[in-house]
Amino acid sequence: MNKIPKLLQLILVVGGIYCAFVLVFDVILQQVIPNSLLNMYMFFIAAGVLAVYTFTEEGTEELLAPIKALVENPDKVRTRNIVFVLTPLVVAAYIYSQLLPSIEAPVELRSIHPAPPSSVKIYGKRYDLKTLENPYRVLETEDPEKFRELVSTGADIYIQNCHFCHGDKLDGQGPYAAGLNPVPLNFQDVGTIAQLQESFLFWRIATGGPGLPDEAAPWISSMPIWQDFLSEDEIWQVILYLYDYTGRRPRSWEE
Ligand code: HEC
Repeated sequence: MNKIPKLLQLILVVGGIYCAFVLVFDVILQQVIPNSLLNMYMFFIAAGVLAVYTFTEEGTEELLAPIKALVENPDKVRTRNIVFVLTPLVVAAYIYSQLLPSIEAPVELRSIHPAPPSSVKIYGKRYDLKTLENPYRVLETEDPEKFRELVSTGADIYIQNCHFCHGDKLDGQGPYAAGLNPVPLNFQDVGTIAQLQESFLFWRIATGGPGLPDEAAPWISSMPIWQDFLSEDEIWQVILYLYDYTGRRPRSWEE
């Protein structure tokens, strides 16, 4: 090891760890790690390696020797000039590249179903989501005819308001869907409404993307705030339709 100058050793160690990270995550595990996270890891690793190399005074001197020689040694005028011109150019190019707008979508790490707040304010009233129930659900057994009527009103509300994004087959493939990120949810998928209580849907539909809790950030959801456009009854009816059309059952607290 003594043959390799310490400064070069340090660069090789840090560079080697970086390559190992990329190899393990990108190539072997096929997992994307956000650049910001990788940069943070690399910062701590570089700081750690630097601490080891500068642990003794001799070590520090040896490490800095090439830099010192470059600045002080009269034989190195040419190299010095090249380095002194190139370094600011490289830094300037890097900063310039950071200023250019990027066309890549930022990596989104988000939970699809954030934990609901226990109580929420909707239509100016406080609701406890743990006890809130769809007032029309009982009609399913008690008055099936009236229930069918409400489901079909729900269908009309859906076609007038929701299909643009969530699709006429409730599969998240509405005409606007391709332009949205995050995408409108697919209610046919077992991962969406089948996992949820009706009160959770009521909250999500009434307060939309802006109603999502802070911990679910980054939220840039296009889901509108429906309490501004639909009545409470209409929201409960459209919820009936969502379950009826997809053949899913709402989750209950007892399960
Ligand atoms: C402008 C597009 C748009 C329209 C119109 C729209 N939504 Fe959404 N909706 C979204 C997007 C995008 C999401 C996913 C992000 C989120 O959860 O906020 C979503 C999520 C939801 C969720 C959450 C589901 C879950 O599993 O967490 C429900 C419920 C929902 N929408 C119901 C509706 C209903 C009912 C309507 C019509 C009254 C409607 N949406 C109209 C865009 C839309």
